[in-house]
Amino acid sequence: MADFGYDVADYCTIDPIFGTMQDFDRLLEEAHRRSLKVILDFVPNHTSDQHPWFLDSRSSRESPKRDWYLWRDEPNNWMSNFGGSGWEWDEPTAQYYYHSFLKEQPDLNWRNPAVRIAMYDALRFWLERGVDGFRVDVMWLLIKDNQFRDNPPNPDYPPGQSSGNRLLTLYNANRPEVHVVVAEMRTVVDSYPGRVLIGEIYLPVKELMAYYGQDLKGANLPFNFLLLQSAWNAEAVAQVISEYMNVLPARAWPNWVLGNHDNARIATRVGVQQAQVAAMLLFTLPGTLTMYYGEEIGMTNVPITPEDVQDPAEKNQPGIGMGRDPERTPMPWNGSRLAGFTDGRPWLPLGADHATVNVEALEQDRNSILHLYRKLIALRRKHPALIDGEMRSVAADQNLLRYERVDGDERFLVLLNLGHSSVQAATEIGIVIVAAGSYREGERVDNLVEVKGSEALLIKIERSSTRRADS
Ligand code: NOJ
Repeated sequence: MADFGYDVADYCTIDPIFGTMQDFDRLLEEAHRRSLKVILDFVPNHTSDQHPWFLDSRSSRESPKRDWYLWRDEPNNWMSNFGGSGWEWDEPTAQYYYHSFLKEQPDLNWRNPAVRIAMYDALRFWLERGVDGFRVDVMWLLIKDNQFRDNPPNPDYPPGQSSGNRLLTLYNANRPEVHVVVAEMRTVVDSYPGRVLIGEIYLPVKELMAYYGQDLKGANLPFNFLLLQSAWNAEAVAQVISEYMNVLPARAWPNWVLGNHDNARIATRVGVQQAQVAAMLLFTLPGTLTMYYGEEIGMTNVPITPEDVQDPAEKNQPGIGMGRDPERTPMPWNGSRLAGFTDGRPWLPLGADHATVNVEALEQDRNSILHLYRKLIALRRKHPALIDGEMRSVAADQNLLRYERVDGDERFLVLLNLGHSSVQAATEIGIVIVAAGSYREGERVDNLVEVKGSEALLIKIERSSTRRADS
């Protein structure tokens, strides 16, 4: 738990603090009974320094597992993503080992075929048990330069940022050989029907697309984090959407993410009012969406005092905004003192607003963000146009972002006001089927519609104006 589960000491069991293998099997069974899928987080880039492989590897230079990790006589300039040098001196065997994250998370040597076999066996172990797929941790970091060349300086490094960003990660990330590994993982996953391979990848969009693989035999879903990094205005978001859709390989399945456990919550980034607009965006974009727990109640980051800090990223480099605790606080189920989350002391504090921002309270309010999420989930099930319909006419005008989703005769117009003042939008004859930030569901529209600040409308077009003009 040096990095809260991202330091695995045994790939084929459940840590007792989370329960037993029986608990896991039951979780899987009960989820499947409810038609839910269970995807595991697979962490192949590094193990825990407590893993028997690493204990063996560091025991002597002659260990058969020595080459399972990255050992060198001299360090190069590669940094750790949590700041400082990525190399740790091991006194007993007088060499350095590389760690992309904490020194308690030594990196595996993915050039070693024995490592690959062992890790694919771990995948099979869980696939056999019935899991529906994997989210692969830091997929783009798996293989490093075999000559261990020094990284060049990052010309855009703003002082005050994590020292992990001081250099460009030319030689310790996104190496061409990584695609062979991803394709191998996909082969393992594909040998079981109906499973999915998702990759955690923070790269510019063109490089990201390579992770779909040759003939789409890479990751089914290389996570698309563009919206996590985009400015929140109509023009920037329109550009992100167009850019992504334009370079998406033919027949590749798109995906979108607004938040995760490593980034500030969406309601904090864009504001509580705009969180509903963001929800409308997420659910009307093509492909698969990923929700982070708490987004459905508009949860915001919880400020963490220095005494409450858990995250090693914050402890390593305090006070420069590296901490991820604020987006990892307990889910508030109700307004009671401990929010129905625990009877004990939660590992991170609850938000000050949990008396009102909680599932039970928002259930009571038909116009709450929680009900909006429910509506949107149901709507996607009902209207395939929202999932795999064509994405048309993406445009930004002042604060208004608009696009259409079209599948055969079914046509939806999406109008999102990313600002705080009203805008006029052209429309065709249709009916508002979802309104976020207002009570306009069921309203008929024609020609021009006013979209208020922080309002979002999903309009089902009944017939197009051109046809109307013809008739
Ligand atoms: C990415 C994970 O999302 C993050 O939480 C973790 O700290 C690093 N990988 C290291 O595994």
